[in-house]
Amino acid sequence: MTNEPLLLGIDISTTGAKALLINSQGDVVASATTPLTLDTPRPLWSEQHPADWWEGVVNSIRQVLVEADVAGETVTAVGLTGQMHGLVLLDKAGEVLRPAILWNDQRTAAQCDAIRARLGQERLIRITGNDALTGFTAPKILWVQENEPEIYGQIRHILLPKDYIRYKLTGGYAIDRAGGAGTLLFDLAQRDWSPEVLAALDIPVDWLPQTFEGTAVTGTITPAAAEITGLAAGTPVVGGGGDQAAQAVGVGAVQPGIVALTLGTSGVVFAATEEPLYEPDGRLHAFCHAVPNYWHFMGVMLSAAGSLQWFRDTLAPDTPFDALTAEAAAIPPGSEGLLFLPYLSGERTPYPDPLARAAWVGLTLRHTRAHMTRAVLEGVAFGVKDSFTLLQNAGLGAINQVRISGGGAKSPLWRQILADVLGVELVNVSTTEGAAYGAALLAGVGTAVWPDVDAACAATIRFTQMTGVGDTAVYDQLYPIYRQLYPALQNSFHNLSSPHFTKDNVM
Ligand code: XUL
Repeated sequence: MTNEPLLLGIDISTTGAKALLINSQGDVVASATTPLTLDTPRPLWSEQHPADWWEGVVNSIRQVLVEADVAGETVTAVGLTGQMHGLVLLDKAGEVLRPAILWNDQRTAAQCDAIRARLGQERLIRITGNDALTGFTAPKILWVQENEPEIYGQIRHILLPKDYIRYKLTGGYAIDRAGGAGTLLFDLAQRDWSPEVLAALDIPVDWLPQTFEGTAVTGTITPAAAEITGLAAGTPVVGGGGDQAAQAVGVGAVQPGIVALTLGTSGVVFAATEEPLYEPDGRLHAFCHAVPNYWHFMGVMLSAAGSLQWFRDTLAPDTPFDALTAEAAAIPPGSEGLLFLPYLSGERTPYPDPLARAAWVGLTLRHTRAHMTRAVLEGVAFGVKDSFTLLQNAGLGAINQVRISGGGAKSPLWRQILADVLGVELVNVSTTEGAAYGAALLAGVGTAVWPDVDAACAATIRFTQMTGVGDTAVYDQLYPIYRQLYPALQNSFHNLSSPHFTKDNVM
């Protein structure tokens, strides 16, 4: 049993409700995740029930307290993070009105068009930093208005998934500004709800919670929540942030010049900025950071490590990843003129095109499986470079270091390819617990364990690997050719998506 003060990070992701306890040196003391499932009641729909998040969070909190062998009083503060953009609707009694509509739900294409029409696309991007995407919260609200008017009529509170858990823990309606910016209802520069967007979409401002910076205390654990979770009543709960912003805090991407690159199934490029920047076509997301008065840009590739996973599962199911990449390491940079486009599930950045497709281009008799593997690794790196190019063109300034995390960060070959393609040093860090770790750090800053987020990161994050820039010449020549491929193939990709070619229609 320890009496040292601990910080609790809670992450409500799409796949699990995680609780993570760390101490003030940043050491992980205990971690527990309760799995969550996803409902797809209709094609394109993606929903979860908020009651399942709460049950999962309670279960995980109880587990970490047991694992760490501590009383609830030992936890000095709680930080929240979770999946962004999801819509939770409550009535006047604070009861959930319908299942939450999640970030990866695709039902709202018509509502996105309506939002662009009502505000004008340019004005929308100017205010919110972003174009209307089906994943964001605002089009989901319009969808409920049009399709479920009896539910819409009862709405009194709109929350995001993490903020529903905040409500259950503290009894208050509050949201962090990193999450708020992902709703498409925010004035990015003002870091608060946009009266102009709300008026254009007929959404009453009093349905929306008060906004807080990521390190601000938003409320305290109620006696009822203390009873059920085992935490102490009165424990402060800080703002925290959306999963990407909290993940960035957790790896120390909290100042301009340091970019966080997460190579999971998807690939996320995250860059902190000291002022709100806008990509004029909205091809990068621009949100508030969980660091007070900072903002960030974000590019999202849909198939990053997911491309290698698909390649292995489909073409080399019995070969371990290490063996595949060892083969690829023997192939020269540039895969002897073979390129791979990584759009296996369409794309978000730099081409917001659900019909984009993957391709190897340049195959000859000379190419082997090893060349194809290397081309996949290189193609994903070129896709990451596309986000870097957008960042630079939107005025980001110098990128001095990339903090890499996620499954893909484990491969030394992939790291070297990325460093050479991007022309920048890559660093792996000791903190591998993802967004929950960043949420715990924010909780510590909010309760004066550290004076600010920079100090929290400096006290807890260590470098474990450095990958310097090697030979960039071949990649510098190949990248312009890679850039030509999507525009050249776009029409073909769209024609190939014709229903004539789906299984049920081919004779
Ligand atoms: C961010 C995004 C995802 C979700 C789910 O824009 O869509 O990161 O937050 O993880």
